[in-house]
Amino acid sequence: MAKAKSTAFFCKECGYESSKWMGQCPACREWNTFVEEPVEKKKPRGLGPSASRSLSGYSGGDRRIETIRPALLSEISIEENDRFPTGFPELDRVLGGGIVGGSLVLVGGDPGIGKSTLLLQVCRNLANSGHKVLYISGEESLKQIKLRASRIGEVYGELRFLCETNLSTIEEIIKRDKPEIAVIDSIQTMFCEEVESAPGSVSQVRESTSLLMQIAKGLGTMIFIVGHVTKEGVVAGPRVLEHMVDTVLYFEGDRHAAYRILRGVKNRFGSTNEIGVFEMGEQGLSEVENPSEYMLSGRPEDASGAVVACSIEGTRPILLEVQALVTETSFGMPRRTATGTDYNRVNLLMAVLEKRCRYDLARFDAYVNIAGGIRMNEPALDLAIVMALISSYKDRPVDPGVILFGEVGLSGEVRAVTMAEQRVKEAVKMGFSTCILPKTCLDRMKPDGSIRLIGVSNVREAIGYLE
Ligand code: TYD
Ligand code: MG
Repeated sequence: MAKAKSTAFFCKECGYESSKWMGQCPACREWNTFVEEPVEKKKPRGLGPSASRSLSGYSGGDRRIETIRPALLSEISIEENDRFPTGFPELDRVLGGGIVGGSLVLVGGDPGIGKSTLLLQVCRNLANSGHKVLYISGEESLKQIKLRASRIGEVYGELRFLCETNLSTIEEIIKRDKPEIAVIDSIQTMFCEEVESAPGSVSQVRESTSLLMQIAKGLGTMIFIVGHVTKEGVVAGPRVLEHMVDTVLYFEGDRHAAYRILRGVKNRFGSTNEIGVFEMGEQGLSEVENPSEYMLSGRPEDASGAVVACSIEGTRPILLEVQALVTETSFGMPRRTATGTDYNRVNLLMAVLEKRCRYDLARFDAYVNIAGGIRMNEPALDLAIVMALISSYKDRPVDPGVILFGEVGLSGEVRAVTMAEQRVKEAVKMGFSTCILPKTCLDRMKPDGSIRLIGVSNVREAIGYLE
C-alpha cells in the first residue's frame, strides 16, 4: 500500500505545528518562521529488550505489557557516583553539581560563540580523568577538529572522534563502543533515515532528539547536543527541542568581547538561572573565577552617570557598572535606548523620576547601558539605573566607592530585594566602602562594620546622597 504523504507547517523557532501557513506563530509570537515539511505518521521506535533491561530502567518502547511494573519510590536506588565533574567548576555549577549519567544536555548558542570549543575542552577533561568519550561531529572534518584540539592542550585519555550524520549509524556505534559521554555537534546536521525531510528541519531535529533521548536513557550514556541558534533560513532552532531534553544551557556573549556566559535555562537535576563565566583566549575557553572584577575592569572614576550595582544570577552575586547619558534633545521627540537591560523598565523609571521627583526629563535624550555587553534584567538594578540617570542629568559623579541595589516601585518607593546579604558581602570583597540599599533589607541585616550601609525607603532619599 502506498504511504499517505502529507505536509504541515512548523514554526522553526518553537516547533509549533499548523495545517496552514501563518505569518506569526501563535505560540512564540515570532514572525515569518513557518516552513512546510512532510509529516509521516509512524510507529515510535524502541531500543529493544536489551536496552530495556538497562540500569536506568527505561523501557525502550517495546516491552510486553505484562512484564511492566511501576516501581516504588523506595525501590529506586541512586548510585553514589551518579554525578561526575567536568573539570570546569563553572560548568558544574550550571549543571547543578556535575554531569548526571544518562542525561541529555542541550548546549545552544549563536554560531561561532564557542560551543564546539567548550565541549571539546569538556571532553578532553573527562577523557583525561579516565572516562570514555566519543565526539561526533557533523560539521567539521577530523583534521579541523585536530587543529582545534591542538590549541586547547594535550589529550591523553580515551577520546575518540567520528564524523557522521546518520543517527542509525551513530546509535549502532554508541551501542557497540559504550562511551560514557557522547557529544553530538550539531543536532541540525543529523538525520534519521525514517524521516523524509532534510537535516535541520523541525521534524528531523525532533526525531533525532527523541532517538538520542532513547539512547541516553537506554544505555546510560550522557549526551551533549549542540544546537545553533539561527535567525535566517529554514533551520530549526534549539527551542524546538528544549522540552525534550533534561538540561538546556545557552552560551551567550558579545562577539566583540572575550567573555562568554553559560546560562542554565532548564535543568531537571538542579536549579536554573545559574551562570558560568568563561573567557575565550588563544588556548580555548578559560574560567573567569571573579566575574565582578572582570566586569568592573576599566571603570572610569569620577565620571558622571556611572554607578556600580549588584545583581544576582542564580546564587551568585555579580557587580556591574550601569551607565547613563542624559543630554538635551535636539529634536522634538526625545530618544531613549537601553543596552543590556529592559527598555520599558528604563522608560518606567524615567516616568517615576518625572512624576515623583519632579525632574523635567521629557526634554532629554537618555541612553542607558550595562557596561561589558552583559544582559541583566533583575529589578534590583532599578536603583542603580535611577542614580546613573540623575548623576548624568545633574552632571555630578557618584563616589566610586558606592554600590547600590534595590527595586523601585511606581510611587518611587525603594523595595526590598532577595539575597541582600550576599550582595553586600560581594561589595565588601571587591573593596567598596558604602552600600545604598533598601531600608527594609537593612533592617533585617546585622551590619558588621566592614562597609557603611545606608538604608533608603524612596528614590528621593537615595538621590539625596548625590549632593
Ligand atoms: P566554535 O567553538 O567553533 O563555535 P561554535 O561551535 O559555537 O560555532 O568557536 C569558534 C570561535 O572561537 C572562532 O571565532 C575562533 C574562536 N577560538 C578562539 O578564539 N580560541 C581558541 O582557542 C579556539 C579553539 C577558538
Ligand atoms: Mg561548532
